[in-house]
Amino acid sequence: MGRVTSMLGITYPIFCGAMGGVSRPQLVSAVAEAGGMGILATAGMKPEAVREAVREIKSKTTKPFGANIAIIAGNVEEILSVLLEEGVKFFTTGAGNPIPLIAPIHEAGGIIFPVVPSARVAKKMEDHGADGVVVEGTEAGGHVGEATTFTLTRQAALAVSIPVISAGGIADGNGIVAAFALGAEGVQLGTRFVASEEAPIHENYKQAILNASDTATFVSGRRSGGPIRIERNNASQKHVALDENPETDMNTLEKFTLPSLIKAARDGDTENEIVTYGQIASIIHEIKSVKQIIEELFHEAEEVLGNLKLDL
Ligand SMILES: Cc1cc2nc3c(=O)[nH]c(=O)nc-3n(C[C@H](O)[C@H](O)[C@H](O)COP(=O)(O)O)c2cc1C
Repeated sequence: MGRVTSMLGITYPIFCGAMGGVSRPQLVSAVAEAGGMGILATAGMKPEAVREAVREIKSKTTKPFGANIAIIAGNVEEILSVLLEEGVKFFTTGAGNPIPLIAPIHEAGGIIFPVVPSARVAKKMEDHGADGVVVEGTEAGGHVGEATTFTLTRQAALAVSIPVISAGGIADGNGIVAAFALGAEGVQLGTRFVASEEAPIHENYKQAILNASDTATFVSGRRSGGPIRIERNNASQKHVALDENPETDMNTLEKFTLPSLIKAARDGDTENEIVTYGQIASIIHEIKSVKQIIEELFHEAEEVLGNLKLDL
């Protein structure tokens, strides 16, 4: 048994990354039931809505699941207390400094894997007592950093001795094997799970992923400090224009981005709203159940590993 599966009580060392508007109770519980780690996205939610979502997950599964805390959202302490009161034991964090959360999570018997964009920050998290890290490369859907998954995974695995989970650009067994070859002990996928039966979003959004090419997305928002990978469409042109305006700061850009993303996921207008997914989308051809996805991924990974040889 691997370190990550035994530490977290899951069957497969795979996380379904927190995704705003997507990682809702239906998807989180389906991932947990299939033996992976489902992670509730809490960004932008009121504490009582978070409590309700956790209770809904608990009504659907008795298996372990986690929650993501977006530090930048502001009401971090309230959200964390609700999650701890409801017995959530596993946490990832994003967008901001997670160090103040490590002690309270440990005091409550919890485990924390901050999501980090560099090997340097991974090491800092280890030094402050984090139990593991998720390293997310710029290939990923959602907000991204500069480093690629390939370089980040290897350098983080060499920099820390806590488990490294590799995220960004992984959507099949080959990707999983590559991540493990670079030193990861688990993987976090987002885009692959958006195109699942259980993702509670509009079919048009899932279809956008099935239709995507490898160059369908680009990163906008670097100037104002909120870089996000988005699909090229009418809304992305507005995003770029807003980012180029020197008066736009990160908060202004987020006020445009987040509601638009939520609308795209809910109503399916993938031309006039912001759509995010990762660069690996073009290898996803079918919407499947979460259970099928996870089982096929690891079956495929075993096959890839069995056939792997260096033809010198
Ligand atoms: C639609 C979508 C929304 C996302 N929203 C969030 C979010 O709210 N918070 C977060 O930490 N990461 C978010 N992510 C990133 C994922 O948690 C995950 O790390 C990433 O999708 C992995 O890369 P991949 O898309 O190449 O699989 C999002 C990703 C996608 C595709």
